[in-house]
Amino acid sequence: LTLKEAFKDKFLMGVAVNRYQINQSNQEETDLIASQFNALTAENDMKWMYIHPEENTFNFEQSDKLVELAQKNDMFVVGHTLVWHSQLAPWVFKSNNGDTISNEELNGRIKKHISTIVGNYKGRIDAWDVVNEALEEDGSYRKSPFYKIGGEAFIEKAFQYANAADPGAELYYNDYNLITPEKRNGAIRIINNLKSKGIKIDGVGVQAHWSLNEPSIEDIETAIKMYSETGVKVMFTELDISVLPSPWNAPTADVSVSFENNPTMNPYPNGLPDSVQTQLAKRYEEIFKLFNKHSDKIGRVTFWGLHDGLSWKNNFPIRGRTDYTLLFDRGMKPKKAFNAVINTV
Ligand code: XIL
Repeated sequence: LTLKEAFKDKFLMGVAVNRYQINQSNQEETDLIASQFNALTAENDMKWMYIHPEENTFNFEQSDKLVELAQKNDMFVVGHTLVWHSQLAPWVFKSNNGDTISNEELNGRIKKHISTIVGNYKGRIDAWDVVNEALEEDGSYRKSPFYKIGGEAFIEKAFQYANAADPGAELYYNDYNLITPEKRNGAIRIINNLKSKGIKIDGVGVQAHWSLNEPSIEDIETAIKMYSETGVKVMFTELDISVLPSPWNAPTADVSVSFENNPTMNPYPNGLPDSVQTQLAKRYEEIFKLFNKHSDKIGRVTFWGLHDGLSWKNNFPIRGRTDYTLLFDRGMKPKKAFNAVINTV
């Protein structure tokens, strides 16, 4: 049984795919993607710096390959992401006539960015993460240049431009730490604000870069219920479970230096011990039991990477760590966690 077969009556099972995978097209990887998953997200290739590197240059080469791969295998495609303060092209906030960009000029750029990209993929990309990470941890708006210049209206406009360019595409707000009450309430405020103005939003994307014990199942459940009550679908969009200590919780770790100088941050030089393998499987099992219980509210669960060797968590938040976040190991073999997840159905 594969993931997409096991969960076909519950929600979509997605995976994020990176540029290297698309270009090298390793057959074993492609087969694993196609057999296990029915939704695809570009890990990086649709971000502003890659897809719109200069004001008048759009580069669809990589994203086209990804969309082709998805079409060939009948997969749902998620466009990630239209407006985000990170992995942005350097020209975006530089005015053509002076150094401080006006709201009008910036808004024109956002409009062109969204209309061109969403329009180009009209009918081919099924859903968009329209705005990514627009909240601070306390639930207030993130003080990014998008917000400082455009106010909260930048979010409303982004959704309107996306909807105008492809009325058939689903539109999402995506962010991390959306389980904490503060940030959860911030996201609910965004959803309700859009809805009260008649602007289409179909879902909230909870990134789900989680660890072995955080967040708690109870808090995840509360968030699923509260998001669902606003009338949007809940998506878990970037699921991975780190088995390593968080440097923010480990007082001895210095996130600014590499792991070579932080040996305690890479505690499993001989591979992941069975006991932790089991812990990871248990954690995934509890999470999917909860997802199944609320499958009527959940549209999709997407893993942020195909196998442990490809997980961004090997380099974040400390470069050079070896993490074991996903359901397939570095040899693309299913881990204990894979079976645990399948067996929840
Ligand atoms: C990450 C990618 O996985 C890395 O390859 C890249 O270097 C940085 O971005 N939130 C998001 C994702 O919305 O786009 C990020 O992806 C992880 C955090």
